[in-house]
Amino acid sequence: MKKVKGTRDFLPELANKFKYLEDVFLEVASSFGFENIRVPTFEKTSLFARGVGDTTDIVKKEMFQVISSANMDKYCRGEYSVSKDGITLRPEGTAGVVRMLVENKEYVNLPKKYSYIINAFRNERPQAGRYREFTQLGAELFGSSEPISDVYIIMLLDEYFKKLGLKNYKIKINSIGCKTCRPKYYEELKKYVEPKLDKMCSDCNERFKNNPLRILDCKVDNDIKLISGHPVSVDYLCESCASKFNFVKDNLEKLNIKFEVDASIVRGLDYYCETAFEVHFENIGAKSAIGGGGRYNDLVELIGGPDVPAIGFALGADRIVMALESEGFFDYKEEEKDVYFYSFDEKFAYKILPAFNELRESGFKVEMELNSRSLKSALKYANKNNFKYVVLIGEDEYQNNSVIVKNMKESDQKEVKLENIVEVMKNE
Ligand code: HAM
Repeated sequence: MKKVKGTRDFLPELANKFKYLEDVFLEVASSFGFENIRVPTFEKTSLFARGVGDTTDIVKKEMFQVISSANMDKYCRGEYSVSKDGITLRPEGTAGVVRMLVENKEYVNLPKKYSYIINAFRNERPQAGRYREFTQLGAELFGSSEPISDVYIIMLLDEYFKKLGLKNYKIKINSIGCKTCRPKYYEELKKYVEPKLDKMCSDCNERFKNNPLRILDCKVDNDIKLISGHPVSVDYLCESCASKFNFVKDNLEKLNIKFEVDASIVRGLDYYCETAFEVHFENIGAKSAIGGGGRYNDLVELIGGPDVPAIGFALGADRIVMALESEGFFDYKEEEKDVYFYSFDEKFAYKILPAFNELRESGFKVEMELNSRSLKSALKYANKNNFKYVVLIGEDEYQNNSVIVKNMKESDQKEVKLENIVEVMKNE
């Protein structure tokens, strides 16, 4: 049996890299007042259709919709509508977090700040850095429409990458306007695209009618060429959006947070308005976005809650691991372990187990021989697994209430009384 294409096994080395990313994320998010939450892996399909947007590629082409075997018969009889009654493996986290906020009336005491670590699922064509199951580290801030919260969330994002030790990331920001300035921008965009429409793909022809901004996500090379030089949203911002965007840029500069304005950032999900941003890292395969986010002031209401402005982001952990690897970050981080306990006979083991436990509880990385292998095999194993010491007990030591402490790096050894072993190891 083989795993499904686009999914991954996390052997200990890779799992440890993810753990590092996740630990630093939770620590930094918590230092900015973000509380960690968990939401379900699957939600009603209609949540994503409405939240992410039913004209987006994610909803139209990439969602894993689930039918339980009990509903399969109903489905075959035409009594079960996948889009109306169905459930979907989350393609992202924001819609579920908003649903949680609304369902639990968490909006009564705003602002609320949440962090989350989730697996998400998109049926994209797998390639380097693009998986069908991937991990997102997310942060969402509810209840402030002030641009200071845009600065705050980008500050958290930047601080995370700094703490993590990633060097060559680029923060790109844009403003995609609000309900006031969008109609004018869409009009100009449509005017520009219309004469080229008959040469463009059928998806773009549909997007033109339903959601012109989505034309800018088109991945067809010919379409990308045809619309290059299209009007950009920053040139059509209303007074309020323009002043908020200036505030964000101004404050990021004052805080020495490096960023660039990139008018091509429109995001692939429908809920955004005003500030939109992405983090990029080159040379990690075809996809360079290691994170993305922005403001979404209308989503809470769209999901059935009150008028609650919000802003947030999600980072792609799989791609960040690749980015750190490409900078050699993990190269020198081979884990050292402390003590491997070995008994020549299992009946001696009980004598060294109290020392094993005491060292384990004091934070030493300890393991013991569990397979009665020969000393030669056990030493080979201890060496390969980076143990600094092996503690041995044989017949003579058993009789003398002592052990042999073997230093694996310096190849020397000494006999130590059992009652002193913890003390000796702590001083080594
Ligand atoms: P997104 O840009 O769709 O935004 O995804 C965020 C990040 O998830 C991407 O920048 C990328 O690093 C990673 N990612 C996306 N798809 C894949 C994939 N197939 N394989 C590996 N990594 C992937 C969102 O999901 C929004 N919910 C972000 C947000 C939160 N906006 C506001 N709050």
